Amino acid sequence: MMRTRPLKVALLGCGVVGSEVARIMTTHADDLTARIGAPVELAGVAVRRPSKVREGIDPSLITTDATALLKRGDIDVAIEVIGGIEPARTLITTAFEHGISVVSANKALLAQDGAALHAAAEQHGLDLYYEAAVAGAIPLVRPMRESLAGDKINRVMGIVNGTTNFILDKMDSTGAGYQEALDEATALGYAEADPTADVEGYDAAAKAAILAGIAFHTRVRLDDVYREGMTEVSAADFASAKRMGCTIKLLAILERAADGQSVTARVHPAMIPLSHPLASVREAYNAVFVEAEAAGRLMFYGPGAGGSPTASAVLGDLVAVCRNKLAEATGPGESAYTQLPVSPMGDVVTRYHISLDVADKPGVLAQVATTFAEHGVSIDTVRQQGRPDGVGNEASLVVVTHRAPDSALSGTVEALRKLDTVRGVASIMRVEGE
Ligand code: NDP
Ligand code: HSE
Repeated sequence: MMRTRPLKVALLGCGVVGSEVARIMTTHADDLTARIGAPVELAGVAVRRPSKVREGIDPSLITTDATALLKRGDIDVAIEVIGGIEPARTLITTAFEHGISVVSANKALLAQDGAALHAAAEQHGLDLYYEAAVAGAIPLVRPMRESLAGDKINRVMGIVNGTTNFILDKMDSTGAGYQEALDEATALGYAEADPTADVEGYDAAAKAAILAGIAFHTRVRLDDVYREGMTEVSAADFASAKRMGCTIKLLAILERAADGQSVTARVHPAMIPLSHPLASVREAYNAVFVEAEAAGRLMFYGPGAGGSPTASAVLGDLVAVCRNKLAEATGPGESAYTQLPVSPMGDVVTRYHISLDVADKPGVLAQVATTFAEHGVSIDTVRQQGRPDGVGNEASLVVVTHRAPDSALSGTVEALRKLDTVRGVASIMRVEGE
């Protein structure tokens, strides 16, 4: 039975993502009606700058008063694509207080306040959907929350930030400079309002916190996620990676400990072998491996940023939430019934690529090797070469280790820095995916 009274949607934000949501809602109105079982109507669009020309949007729908839009009494679903913490958090809370279900793309807010927002949705018997918050267009949140709800996820590893993947890919494949590649990613609408969130790894860390919570049915806060950005990755690192048959990606890695009693969550640049599927993820694409006990290894791949791909995920949530409204039901809420502690980065066990500037004289290699051994870090390979800048009596020493705890590696590096013969630690990079 088709309902003729439309479901009314408030669009909060009409920028890169919101404008595409509005466009698809208009151009696909008939299909959306058929799929939902009722027409959906764009009832209002809240923005900051009302005079901005917005193609395809009826100017009478534009308002700067998002709160009044939510309080007017006829809105069924709010789509929050403003971003940031405030006013998004207050608006979502207001929506729940007025019986309005919410679709959001806001990973920063969900990572910080997801628990409280889920509780508010549940208290009011409403939906909070956020597929677009992680990995753009890629269906990932719903498969993990629903399709894998009967399995046990042990590990998630992937590229979850389009901007940084775009920059690293350009640096690697075209030799582009960091700033030039970032400017291009920003112009294409991939970057956050403040791109520091992308390049310093905060955006990926927010997504990692959300995914870890879903994967391990526990609460993982943004502060629990170890985070390193990619601003220090240099052309020399790419050259080193190439010599090892690797490239460099900013990875999010979430792991359940072998004893099942704790988890780790981290975001940092890492070398991965060129033969690894993540190595061929180009431009602003994302890809995420999920390892589940019964299912084995699953890979999710697709556009990770940009207006239209992200709008696709938002619209998918809108259809689901509207269907739930018509069925007078709600979808799955937060599942955080385990309370697994998040272990510190020092407990993570992985491999390392360390590049040292050392004095080029007898005994240096032995001294360096001894320092690794004293900290229980086993060396896999060592390569020494004269410094490319031709500095006399100095060499560059590249050490690749076997798997070791991160705390042991930190201790090693601290001790190496104290050696007279070590002029500097040029770079430390983890090696993953082998
Ligand atoms: P934009 O900066 O392009 O758009 C933000 C929109 O919010 C603008 O329309 C702006 O109005 C409006 N806005 C800002 N402040 C207010 C306010 N106080 N009241 C009402 N409206 C306001 O951001 P994006 O579209 O890129 O991102 C939106 C969300 O989607 C963020 O949470 C982001 O993290 C997420 N996201 C973005 C992706 C992307 O590729 N861009 C991908 C996945 C998720 P005005 O137009 O007048 O300036
Ligand atoms: N700035 C984000 C990115 C948008 O580049 O991945 C998608 O979440």
